[in-house]
Amino acid sequence: MSTLKFAVLPGDYIGPEVMTEALRVLAHVAAKENLTLSYQVADVGGAGIDNHGKALPDSTLALAREADAILFGSVGGPKWEKLPPKEQPERAALLPLRKAFNLFANIRPGLLYKDLLDASPLKSERIPNGIDIVCIRELTGGIYFGQPKTTTTLENGEQQAVDTMVYKTSEIERIAEVAAVTAKARGNRVCSVDKANVLETSVLWRKVVVDYFAKNHPDIALSHMYVDNAAMQLARDPNQFDVLFTENMFGDILSDEMAVICGSLGMLSSASLGTGKNSLELPFGLYEPAGGTAPDIAGKGIANPCAQILSAAMMLRYSFGLDAVAAKIEAAVRKAVTEDGFRTGDIAFGKPTVGTKAMADAIIANLG
Ligand code: IPM
Ligand code: MN
Repeated sequence: MSTLKFAVLPGDYIGPEVMTEALRVLAHVAAKENLTLSYQVADVGGAGIDNHGKALPDSTLALAREADAILFGSVGGPKWEKLPPKEQPERAALLPLRKAFNLFANIRPGLLYKDLLDASPLKSERIPNGIDIVCIRELTGGIYFGQPKTTTTLENGEQQAVDTMVYKTSEIERIAEVAAVTAKARGNRVCSVDKANVLETSVLWRKVVVDYFAKNHPDIALSHMYVDNAAMQLARDPNQFDVLFTENMFGDILSDEMAVICGSLGMLSSASLGTGKNSLELPFGLYEPAGGTAPDIAGKGIANPCAQILSAAMMLRYSFGLDAVAAKIEAAVRKAVTEDGFRTGDIAFGKPTVGTKAMADAIIANLG
C-alpha cells in the first residue's frame, strides 16, 4: 500500500472550506484505491500572519519540507490589504515557497466544459465546444526574481525603481521540456510566447526554444507569438492554442486572461512543479486552485470546491504518479457539473444551486 505524504495549507476565507471537501474526496479515493493519506495541516497566508507573525511561518515551511507535495488553498483578503506589498499574504507566502522548492514550472489548464459556455465572457460561437488549452509558465526566473530589484533616491531627490528581467539557457530549456511533455500528452502543439521584437531575454528565449525543440522534440509543432498578439488571440480564438508556453510575467498575465475566458475561477486548478524530486522520485509540487479566497462568500458554505478538488487530482498525477486515479477524479467532477447538473452559485446561470459540501458529495458519488 503506498503512502501519500503531503502538507495541507488551507489559507484564508474560503480556502479551508474548499480544502475540507478536497480532503474528503481524497479520503474516499484513497480507501477505494488502497492508498494511505499522510498529511499535516499548517497555517499560511493571513492565517500565518495572524498566528505566527508571517505569511509563510518557519514551522509551515519545515512541515512542507518533510512532505512530497503541498496541497495549497488560497490566501489573502481585506484583513491584510493594508500591509506593505512585500508582506501581503499572496506574495509573502507564494514567492518564498516557489523559491524554496524551485517550483519553476507552473501548469494551468484552461478548461471550460461545453455545458458551461455561459460562464465565459466570449461569444459561444467562438468556443462552440468549450475550451481546452494549457498554459505553461516559467515560475522562478525572469523579472519576478532578477537582481537588482531596488528603489533608490536620485541626486535630484526623485525616486527610481529597478526590476531586472533575466534568463539563462538552462532555465529556458528545463521549462521547454515541461511544455514539450505536456504537448505530447495532448495535441502535440506548443506556442512559445515572447517579446523577441524588443527584449533581449526574449531573443534568447526564442533561440533556445527553437534549438531545444529541433534537437529534442522535432515531432512537436512549435510556433512563436509575441505576447501582445497572444493576448489578442486568446480573446479571439483560444482553441487555436494547445499548449501556451511563456516566461514568468507574461505567463502571470496570460494565464489570468485564460482563466477569465474559461469562466468561473472556481473550476480552474494549477500545479507548480519543482526541479527537485520527492521521496518517490517524482517532482515535488505545489497544487492550488486559480481562484482567490472569495471573502464575500466565505463562511456561507457556498464556494465552489471543484478547483481545489481538481488541484488535488493534479497532485496525484504529478507528485504521486497516479495518473489513472487523477483522471477518475477529473471525470467525476466533469460529470457532476455537466451530466448531473450540480451547480454552485458561480456556475449556476439560472439553474438551481448546491453548496460546497453537496457539490463534493456529488463528485464522491461519481467515484463509486
Ligand atoms: C499568481 C499570483 C502571484 C504571481 C502573486 C500573488 C505573487 O498572481 O500566482 O499568478 O504574480 O505569480
Ligand atoms: Mn497572477
